[in-house]
Amino acid sequence: MILSRSLTAALALAIAAPAGLIAGKPTINDGATRISSNENAFGFTPKALERMKEALDAGNYYNRNDVDDLMKLIASKEGLEKKNVLTTPGSGPVLLMTAWSYAKAGTNVVTTQMGYSQLVNEFVEHGGDAKYVPLNDKMGYDFKALGKAIDDKTSIVYICNPNNPTGVLADPKELADFVLSVPDKILVFVDEAYLELSDGGLAKNSMSKLVKLRKNLIISRTFSKGHGMAGLRCGYGLSSPEVLANLQKFYAGTPSYLAAIAAQEALKDEAFLASNVKNYATVRNYAKKEFDRLGIKYAEPNGAFVYFHAGIKSKELVDKLKAKKILISGSRESGVPEGTFGDWARVSIGNQAEMEVFFGELEKILGKS
Ligand SMILES: Cc1ncc(COP(=O)(O)O)c(C=O)c1O
Repeated sequence: MILSRSLTAALALAIAAPAGLIAGKPTINDGATRISSNENAFGFTPKALERMKEALDAGNYYNRNDVDDLMKLIASKEGLEKKNVLTTPGSGPVLLMTAWSYAKAGTNVVTTQMGYSQLVNEFVEHGGDAKYVPLNDKMGYDFKALGKAIDDKTSIVYICNPNNPTGVLADPKELADFVLSVPDKILVFVDEAYLELSDGGLAKNSMSKLVKLRKNLIISRTFSKGHGMAGLRCGYGLSSPEVLANLQKFYAGTPSYLAAIAAQEALKDEAFLASNVKNYATVRNYAKKEFDRLGIKYAEPNGAFVYFHAGIKSKELVDKLKAKKILISGSRESGVPEGTFGDWARVSIGNQAEMEVFFGELEKILGKS
């Protein structure tokens, strides 16, 4: 058992590190296995590193042209115009600016029970309400129920695809039909933070094609996940100029020129992204097999993480793993009464060696070995 683990760990390193690239290390060098925040263990394109190094000594200038070039590149990739693109430091600010510009007392955001909470919590914090709609029995989206939950006070419908924390991916046709069925005056927000990593990727699953068809639609994307640049902070929103003008009222700054340069390289280096997507699919399949072997239920994962039924309080599991320097995330309940998913937890997809460390400890903690 131990022998086969270290053997697969050695093979895994070959999967984890594509030719010529050794993924970077976090600045906190405490030896922990970090599989809690959906960071990308496989790193980012070496071409971005090269270009950033070359540009470092221009740090005394604002270099707005680099952000401008990034916006043009994103627009041309999407078949849109620069006026349809808003770049921000990570995609989080797009979610926050949306909440800030749309939230007010007497309005609501319709979203899924169990979902990414950044926009929704901020909307509620600023006076609006949240209407949570249960997921279906596969922890996927129930579009009929979402449609029914919309009322005359709804100002936003927020969908995260694939969803966080469940990882479940929507059927693209069902999602597109749903987006176009929402009354025109309501803003639909589709958060595609993990979509590059999903089965079929952006080409099959993105709703960005609908931006030309629907004024009240925002698609958010990030370079933090599939492209492996979480610390560099670059993301963007795609929408109509009218909707982006609403968000601009709360604009708090561009990505740095280094992030903008790195993001351009990430978009150009399609082969590198493809290698990251492959790495994720390989390790995700390994994780599914391990959960199956241990008889642990999980939601079908399509992002950078797996949501699984720990069977003990997730806080207890998180703490026990933390004592072994393995960091995962707890139950991540949103919109459900506390405790409903209290024995579920989310583990990020790390590299193969990290996942083996995790499964080795999980097996012991849950008494499965
Ligand atoms: C679904 C989702 N959207 C948006 C974000 C924001 O990330 P970033 O600001 O790094 O783009 C995250 C971060 O984990 C996320 O999980």
